[in-house]
Amino acid sequence: MLLRAACIYLLLAAGAGSLSAKEPRQIRESGSAFVGSIGCKSSSCHGGAGPKRSQYITWSQKDFHTKAYAVLLDSRSERIAESLGIAGAQSSARCTVCHSPLQSVASSRLLGTARPDEGVSCETCHGAAGGWLRGHTRTDWNYNTRVAAGMHDLRNLYVRANACVACHQNLAPELLKAGHPDLFFELDGQSVAEPKHWRDEEPWSGLREWLTGQAVALREMSWALASDPQNEAFSIARWNGLAWLCATATSAGSIPSPVSLPSSNASLPEFTRMQNESEALARRASVSNWSEGSARALLTALASVDAEFVEKGTPNNLLAQRAKRLVLALDRLTNALNQNGGVRLKIDPELNQLFQDVKTLDAFDGSGFAGHLQNFRTALEQNR
Ligand code: HEC
Ligand code: HEC
Ligand code: HEC
Repeated sequence: MLLRAACIYLLLAAGAGSLSAKEPRQIRESGSAFVGSIGCKSSSCHGGAGPKRSQYITWSQKDFHTKAYAVLLDSRSERIAESLGIAGAQSSARCTVCHSPLQSVASSRLLGTARPDEGVSCETCHGAAGGWLRGHTRTDWNYNTRVAAGMHDLRNLYVRANACVACHQNLAPELLKAGHPDLFFELDGQSVAEPKHWRDEEPWSGLREWLTGQAVALREMSWALASDPQNEAFSIARWNGLAWLCATATSAGSIPSPVSLPSSNASLPEFTRMQNESEALARRASVSNWSEGSARALLTALASVDAEFVEKGTPNNLLAQRAKRLVLALDRLTNALNQNGGVRLKIDPELNQLFQDVKTLDAFDGSGFAGHLQNFRTALEQNR
């Protein structure tokens, strides 16, 4: 089954007819009206003091998403729009689909309180609130009742990863060429950076988020490559890096729903197969169980693949992309162990060195990286 769950979370274009074939794919979300973030703001609701009621404050004061519309008005966006030949970024669906999603909602579904320029706001992620705004505060409603009434089930990490990846991974190659920053999805670290206005109670949920996020990112990339016959070397190298990481991690960690290793000249059947494998991994990873033992074992295994970076035969651009994904994995595993493992691992300098190595991929040095990976592993072993 070729599944692309993420697209259902992109909020729907007013008239599909106004979108050209190059516009992101969308499925119309039928049903309730959008209330706008103002509807959540009251101090007795989500705009109050204290951790239970402060979600609006966290979002409006700290969350990157509140700026999503405003950046469309800055000079960088102006340059991107100019090279794409579009009149204004702030009113083009090619930008607003991710930066100002309420703009593409039919006006009949926007209540007077919803402002199209509010960026990526509450209902972008939680779903249009018209159907549950009144009910969701009732004491006889629980989480399941709210979800049944149409609130997105974001506690489910598979659903959550699909919600974020819809805007955070695939970008039309023309946008990248026009100067848009490259998109790179990693659910665990990016949730912390958002920053979170919620608490994930289960201590090891970060690793579940990391692996689920990597799997949905791989599925999205595989889908994009499978549907675009004119693939570029860059997109394929990026895909190869992530596919390699998922294959290496699922094999080293004996994770059910493994992903197979990518070949260096992949073509359509392989992208399609990878799409299915990563979809299965995403579902499995979203309910995976982690412990100090399994996190530590995977960290050690991933820190032991240095030989792969000095092997002749794999093109340097693929090695660079693999290294970048690997460093991110080491970082999330280290972070999870530091949070939950009792002792803080003394491996920061070695990890920072690895981050330095993958900062500019054009000049990637495989044997230097392999040496630094060995240093990381040695430091890790000393933290027994
Ligand atoms: C697929 C969703 C998507 C589309 C379509 C999209 N963007 Fe973005 N854009 C993002 C995301 C996600 C980021 C944040 C990237 C990051 O920093 O990781 C971003 C970042 C940016 C930034 C940098 C913002 C900053 O704070 O540094 C600019 C400028 C920008 N986008 C402009 C545009 C313009 C102009 C268009 C239309 C031509 C557009 N974007 C289309 C998702 C999108
Ligand atoms: C970028 C996506 C996103 C945006 C925007 C967003 N949320 Fe959330 N929100 C989440 C996720 C993910 C969770 C965690 C899952 C959960 O608890 O439902 C969450 C959790 C919550 C919770 C539960 C908190 C807890 O500790 O259980 C509330 C309440 C909430 N959000 C309200 C809001 C409000 C109000 C806004 C707008 C001011 C908002 N959210 C904007 C993604 C988002
Ligand atoms: C409707 C599209 C959309 C959705 C859904 C979305 N984002 Fe974003 N996100 C954006 C855009 C656009 C930006 C760029 C905003 C800017 O830089 O001003 C962004 C920026 C960010 C940033 C800051 C830049 C970076 O990459 O470090 C983080 C972190 C982030 N998003 C995390 C998340 C998480 C976590 C989720 C899911 C819970 C999520 N986003 C869902 C569109 C979206």
